[in-house]
Amino acid sequence: MTRGRFITFEGIDGAGKSSHLDHVCDLVRAAGHRVDKTLEPGGTRFGVGLREVILARPTSALAEALAVFAARAAHVEERILPALDAGTWVVCDRFTDSTYAYQCGGNGLDPAAVRTLERLVHPHLQPDLTLLFDLDPAVAAGRQQAQGRAPDAFESRSGEYFTRVRDAYLERARESGSRIRLIDASLPLESVRAAVGRAFRSAFP
Ligand code: TYD
Repeated sequence: MTRGRFITFEGIDGAGKSSHLDHVCDLVRAAGHRVDKTLEPGGTRFGVGLREVILARPTSALAEALAVFAARAAHVEERILPALDAGTWVVCDRFTDSTYAYQCGGNGLDPAAVRTLERLVHPHLQPDLTLLFDLDPAVAAGRQQAQGRAPDAFESRSGEYFTRVRDAYLERARESGSRIRLIDASLPLESVRAAVGRAFRSAFP
C-alpha cells in the first residue's frame, strides 16, 4: 500500500485559500486517490471544541500555541496519520506553518518553542506540499468586508499584525525549499485556480 500524501493550505485570513480546497481534492481524486479534507484548529471532536475557545478567546502567544498543538496532537493521531497509512491523501486547511506565522510572527513567540512542540507532536510528519496564498493584508481585509463577514477575534486584529504574519509566512517559504509554493492570491479567482493546478502537478507529476 502506497502511503498517502499530505497537502496543506496556508495564508492570512481573507487570502481566499478555502475556496480552492475542493479543487485540490478533485485533482487528488482525478489522480486516482482517496482524499480526506480537514482543517485546523479542528479536524476531531476534541479539536472542534478547542477551536471554539481559541477563536473566541485570544490569549498569550504561548497559551495559543499550546492549545493549537493540543488540537493538532489529536488531529495527527486520530485522523491524519491513520488516513495517510491507509493510502488516503489528506488536504488540510492550515497546519504548523500557521503557528509559526500567527503565534511567532504575529504575536512574538520564540520559534524555538514551536520547534519543540513540533518535535513532540509530529516528529516524522511534514506536508508534502504546502500552498501559501499570499496577499496584501489591506486587500484581504477589504475582501472580507466586501463579503459582509463579521470578523472573529483573530480576524479583527490590526493590519500591522497581519503584515507580521504575512512576513513570517514568506520567510518560511524562503527556508522551505520546494515544499511551500507561493500562490499570488491577488489575481482573479480563475488565475489563482490555474496556479493551484500548476503547483499540484509540479509537486505530483
Ligand atoms: P478560521 O476561522 O478557521 O479561519 P481560516 O479560514 O482563516 O483558516 O480561523 C483559524 C484562525 O486560527 C486563523 O485566524 C489562524 C488561527 N490559527 C493560529 O493562530 N495558529 C494556528 O496554529 C492555527 C492552525 C490557526
